[in-house]
Formats: sequence, structure tokens, C-alpha cells
Amino acid sequence: MSKLALLGGDPVRTVPFPAYEVIGDEEKKAVQEVLDSGVLSRYLGSWHPDFYGGPVVQAFEREWSERFGVKHSIAVNSCTSGLYAAVGAVGAGPGDEVIVSPYTMFASATAAVIFNAVPVFADIDPQTYTLSAETIAPKITPRTKAIIVVHIFGQAADMDGIMALARSKGIAVIEDCAQVPFATYKGRPVGTLGDIGVFSFNYHKHVHTGEGGMCTSENDELAERVRLIRNHAEAVVRDKGTTNLVNMVGFNFRLGEIEAAIGRCQLRKGGDLIAQRKVNVRMLEQKLAGVPGLSMPVVGAGGDHVYYVHALDFDEEAAGISRDLFVKAVSAELPATKLREHEGPLMGAGYTRPLYLNPMFQTMTAYGNVQCPFKCPHYKGQVSYAEGECPNAERAHYSRVITHEMMRPPMTETDLDDVAAAFHKVAEHRSELTDFGRSGA
Ligand SMILES: Cc1ncc(COP(=O)(O)O)c(C=O)c1O
Repeated sequence: MSKLALLGGDPVRTVPFPAYEVIGDEEKKAVQEVLDSGVLSRYLGSWHPDFYGGPVVQAFEREWSERFGVKHSIAVNSCTSGLYAAVGAVGAGPGDEVIVSPYTMFASATAAVIFNAVPVFADIDPQTYTLSAETIAPKITPRTKAIIVVHIFGQAADMDGIMALARSKGIAVIEDCAQVPFATYKGRPVGTLGDIGVFSFNYHKHVHTGEGGMCTSENDELAERVRLIRNHAEAVVRDKGTTNLVNMVGFNFRLGEIEAAIGRCQLRKGGDLIAQRKVNVRMLEQKLAGVPGLSMPVVGAGGDHVYYVHALDFDEEAAGISRDLFVKAVSAELPATKLREHEGPLMGAGYTRPLYLNPMFQTMTAYGNVQCPFKCPHYKGQVSYAEGECPNAERAHYSRVITHEMMRPPMTETDLDDVAAAFHKVAEHRSELTDFGRSGA
């Protein structure tokens, strides 16, 4: 095959990949119906039947509950909002610690900070990239109020061990399900395994409403506390007769009727979209076989993976090339995806820097300039955000993980052939990259 694109050769492909475009006639009709109704939102931030939102929001919640067999579904305007409401609902506050993964989007950890609790980072399992009972156990202290388990990249953490540990210590478990809608763990839907599950419907997710989210729970009291925090709790509790006022400081986390109308359609199509994604992953993985140093994602004990991204493991030593240079060279061979042209090829090295290495944690600066909640007088612990705190997460970010999204429907087998060809081309010509960078190329 020809010279590497990174060294001036012709790329494998220049025609953009097809867009992951999931909004169709069904959504357009549903949105039109909401517009015609004239009711774009129907919430009152005071104690009244409309406290629970408009008819479409409530229908979306009912349908989500039916689909996943969960007692309560509470629509919110993002997963971030849902995580904040969940941490508030379980009662975490000043002096408490919340154990969370460092290998996630920032909101999973700021959810603790928002209620003045201290995030404590436990390491990830090197194969599934999620927390495990083994990594959580050493981080538990008498101050641990909650664990936020992030089901990352598309598969659930090994929840049986985590739940047994949490239950034995009386610690609440929040599932961050932003990346795993429709996934199961040992046959059970994720988001129904812990105390509260939280989903995302932002534009990048498997199903989306532009922005949006859903909280799920089997627990009547926790569900009601999430609803209160969603909608100005402080203005509602008196007339409603709520007696537990801990964290009853409300927000406006309400989802609108238009987003809910889109969400109802997306809920119906989500299963098919994910099935197509799994077929594509299976095909692509066969085509990628034989690339030195590259391993396909391990499907863990839960037995399911919905591939939010396709996270590959890269062993630099076995490959004989650095992970970052390999990704750069493969990206140079491939085009962008339609609707996300500005992002370039949908491929990256590392996913996310472990959260504790970011300025908020390194400087312990959040509220005011007195280092609350990290140095709050109510906090009697000593949290460490030192480099090396979670070696598996650091290794994943700095040298091992390659993520890409070039397996989303409607990618065809021909499209997948091009993706695989780029990987193989770079692998075959990798020795030519030895001097790349040194020669100023
Ligand atoms: C793991 C994880 N948690 C939380 C979020 C936040 O979701 P949202 O954008 O809906 O607030 C994201 C979004 O990318 C995510 O991937």
C-alpha cells in the first residue's frame, strides 16, 4: 500500500463517513404536536399538581419506567443535573466523602463538590475501565456517604461486588449511566442496579434530545427527593409537608415538553440503534485482527456492551510505536464524519485525563478562596489528588487507550473496511515513522 498520509502519501479515504443522524419524521411529528399544543413546559415551582411537569414529560417518564422495569423515572435537563440531584438526594454534604471514578466526564465528580462533599478517586479496572469492589474497598472511610459508579464506554461495572460492599457499609450507590442506555448487567437493565441511575440525552449519546437526562430509582423517598431538587425544593417543602430538609436546596433541572417528545421517539428506536452498533463492532473487530499491539475491548462480567465508543487497548511495546503517534498516523488516513466535520476523524488517544490531575483538584479550589470543600472545617479526612493516585487510569490515559466512534450506524461494511485499512496501513509502515517529529516532519 502507498506511503503514509502523515508522511505526505495519499490517505486511505477522503470521502466523509455518514452521519449518525437519529432524528427522523417521527420526532418531527412529535415536536409539531407539542408546538401545536402551545404548551412547551408545564411546571410550577411550588406545591401543585404541575410540580411534576407537563403531560409529555410525564408520559416520557412513564414509558422509560415501563421499558426498563423501574418504579420511578424522573426527567431532567441533563445528566449533569441528574447527578447533582442524585447526590443531593442521598444526603451527601459537608464533611462527607463520595467515591468516584477518575476516568469519566467531569460532572461525575463535580456532583459531589456541588453539595460540598469531597470526591475521593478510586482506580479503575484496567480491562473494563470502571470501578470495581477491589478498587473501591481501600478508599472507604467512616465519612464515605456515596459511591458514584460510572459505567464507561458502554458497559456496566461489575455491580454485584460493588453493591454487596456498599450494602455492607450502608453506603448509597449512584450509577452514572450516561454512556450505557439500554445496556444490561447479567440480564438486568443498568440504572436499576444501584440506588439511583442517571442517563444523558446530550447530542453525543446513543439516543438524544439535544440536551436532557433521566434519573431512575426503585426507592420512593429518593425519587421524591430527586423531584424536589429538580424543581425549587426550598419553595415547595413547606406546603408539601416535607420534613427531611437536608439538601432541599432546589434548582431548575426541568426537561421541556419538546425534548420529552423527542425522547419518547428515541426510546422506541434506541434498541435497534444499539443492535446495529453491536453488529458493526463485531464486523470491525474481525477486520482489525492482526494489528500488532491492538486488543479489542473486553466485555466484563455483566456480559453486555453497547459501545458508546469503541475503546481499544494499545500495547506500545508490542506495537513498536507510541500510542499517540499511531493514533495521529491512523487519523491522517481517515476523513471526518458528516455533521461533526469540525472535529476531524472521530478518533482519539486516552479519553480523559484522570480528573484529579485537573486544576480544581490540584489547587483544591472550588468555593471561595478558602479551599472548601477540600479543607472545610467540617471535613476531618485528608484526601490525596497526587499524581500516581490511580495508576490504571493514568496508564489508560497516557499510553494505552484508543477511542473511536467509527462504528456507529449507518456505517456500512465498506466504511468499516476503510477504517480497518487505515489501521493496517499504519501498522505495516510503522517503521517509517521512527524519525517522525525528529526531522521536523
Ligand atoms: C460519563 C458521563 N457522565 C456525565 C455526563 C454528562 O452528561 P450531560 O452532558 O447530559 O450533562 C457525560 C457526558 O458526556 C458522561 O459521558
